[in-house]
Amino acid sequence: MDQDSSMLVLLIKRQFLQMRQLRQFQWSLTESIASSGSTTKSSSVATSLSATTPEMQQAIVDKVFYDPHVMKHPPSPTYQYSFLKKLITMIEGENVHEISSDLLEIFADLIMTAPKRPEDGGPPLEPCFKSYSLDRECKKLVTVMEEQTTISSGTTGLRTWEASFWLAEYFISHPEALEGKNVVDIGCGVGFLGIACALLGAKKVVLTDGNTEVLSMARNNISYNVVPCPTTASLLDWENFTKEQIAALEADVLILSDLTYDPTNITPLVNVLKAILVKGVSAYMSSAIRNPKTFVDFFARIKQECVGVEIDELPLQDADHLFFFDTDTVQTVKVFHLYFP
Ligand SMILES: C[S@@+](CC[C@H](N)C(=O)[O-])C[C@H]1O[C@@H](n2cnc3c(N)ncnc32)[C@H](O)[C@@H]1O
Repeated sequence: MDQDSSMLVLLIKRQFLQMRQLRQFQWSLTESIASSGSTTKSSSVATSLSATTPEMQQAIVDKVFYDPHVMKHPPSPTYQYSFLKKLITMIEGENVHEISSDLLEIFADLIMTAPKRPEDGGPPLEPCFKSYSLDRECKKLVTVMEEQTTISSGTTGLRTWEASFWLAEYFISHPEALEGKNVVDIGCGVGFLGIACALLGAKKVVLTDGNTEVLSMARNNISYNVVPCPTTASLLDWENFTKEQIAALEADVLILSDLTYDPTNITPLVNVLKAILVKGVSAYMSSAIRNPKTFVDFFARIKQECVGVEIDELPLQDADHLFFFDTDTVQTVKVFHLYFP
């Protein structure tokens, strides 16, 4: 397969593994090139390369559906069904190529087995595997089991939040921030970001959360990944913690993603940060700015309680993202570095 075809297969695979919404899915190299702005490739050449060609259909069967990792940790059957339905509809609509018999076989199987979507009369969506690639080659994957709904069992912690993608992208381009460091994820949720840090060179990672159901999901998620450093999950409730608990974490680097959304949580979060963010410890924090007042209040409190702390806003890349974002929230995430000079 030529280089462009391989690039398109990898792009499709990354989106598929992350279960990117099909209405935003990029099926041809042109769209990806146009959105990334990373190459000067002429669009007339690029338009000929789409997911519908026979070569690409076969590559999707072999390198996406029959990839050993995908077979072990597949996206939900309902998503796989919708993905193939969309692809087959595109192929039929173009009326140029035949649909590959292998694709049809996988689709026929999914017709029999995949539950319908809830809006089509199917059962509520179940937790499922998502895999987030830390590179464009799908070599370094973080696989987590997570809910597909925003709030589940009364907590926001059972799915990955987009703010954590921004911080992961920062660490991918600045691995020195993690290398050789003990990393502590505060309010880890399902654990995507902490597990990513383990794969990006941390010496040790501790995922922490105050919700035991969330923590148990995070613990299972560690086990789905081959992490190269000790990676564990422990309870850390910001409203009820001890000095001994904080000392046992031996934190060099704190990571915090999407924790400032709830005004009632600001005081406990400031308290735990005050206890753990001392000279020599760095905190990296990403937040979706949903309620600017809560956010401003949070930083005012941090400056008051952690006297002398520096807060730098880190620049974010605005194109060629590795992860797939909901376009609505792309504008509103900020990433900060907190440290004592
Ligand atoms: C919006 S989720 C963010 C999860 C994850 N950091 C991410 O970005 O995907 C907020 C997390 O904070 C945790 N949390 C909320 N209040 C907490 C508290 N008082 N103590 C410890 N964790 C708490 C929740 O259980 C949840 O996992």
